[in-house]
Amino acid sequence: MSKPVPSMRLDRLLANLGYGSRREMQALAKNGRITLDGEELTDADRRLSLTPDLPGRLLIDGRDLDPLPGVALMLHKPLGVTCSHKEVGALVYDLLPNRWRGRDPAISTVGRLDKETSGLLLLTDDGGLLHRIISPKSHVAKRYLVTLDRPMAGDEGKTFADGGLLLEGDDKPLMPAELEVLSPTSALLTIHEGRYHQVRRMFAAVGNHVSALHRDRIGGLELKENLESGQWRIMGPEDLAAVFSGPAS
Ligand code: URA
Repeated sequence: MSKPVPSMRLDRLLANLGYGSRREMQALAKNGRITLDGEELTDADRRLSLTPDLPGRLLIDGRDLDPLPGVALMLHKPLGVTCSHKEVGALVYDLLPNRWRGRDPAISTVGRLDKETSGLLLLTDDGGLLHRIISPKSHVAKRYLVTLDRPMAGDEGKTFADGGLLLEGDDKPLMPAELEVLSPTSALLTIHEGRYHQVRRMFAAVGNHVSALHRDRIGGLELKENLESGQWRIMGPEDLAAVFSGPAS
C-alpha cells in the first residue's frame, strides 16, 4: 500500500522552508507573488498536498519552490570546509543556498568528513534516513583514497582485514576493513563503521601518516567526475538505492 501524501498550510510550508515568517508568507500570497499551476494563490491558509511535483507547480516570484522536506543531497566536499552548523570559518552549509539555513527540519550532514578530507558527503533533513545510513547495522561501506607520507610496510592489508585492531582511546576493536594497494604510498581503504578520524588513526596505528584523504564511494554510490569540488545535487530514489546496495560488507 502506498503511503498517504502529507499536507500542510501554505504559510507554514514556506516558513519551514526558510522563506520567512508565517506573517511574511501571508503578505507574500496577498501580494500575488505565489502561483499554483499558473494561478495566483492569495490565500496562505490553504492546505496543499506535498506531492513530489509540487516544487515545479508552486512558484514564488516565478521561481520553483525549494525542495520539500525529506530531501537528500550529495555534495563533493572541498578541502578546508567544516561539517558543522556553527564553527568559525568555511562550513559545508555555506555551499548550499542561503535560504536553506532557515529550514525546519534542518539539513544536516550524514556523518562527517574532517576539514582536511575531500569527497562524497551526503546531507539530509530526514532523521530516519540519516540514521539508516550511519547505523552500523546497515553495513553501508565507505571507500577512501588514501595518500601516505611513507611507503607501506606490506602487512597493512592483512592487519586491517583481520579486524580487532584497537585504536588509541577506543574501547572496542575495529571491524575488518579492506585495503587495495595502488602504489607504495597510496591505497583505497573500505571501512564499515564511522569512528572519529578513523582512517587517519588506522594508519597512525600501523606507523604511517595520512597526507591526503578523499572519499569516493558510500555503499554503491560513487562520486563521479561531473560533480566538481564544491558542487552538490539532489539525490533521486536511484541514488538512495545505490547507497544501500553493494559493494558493502
Ligand atoms: N576517516 C578520517 O580519518 N577522516 C575522515 O574525514 C573520514 C574518515
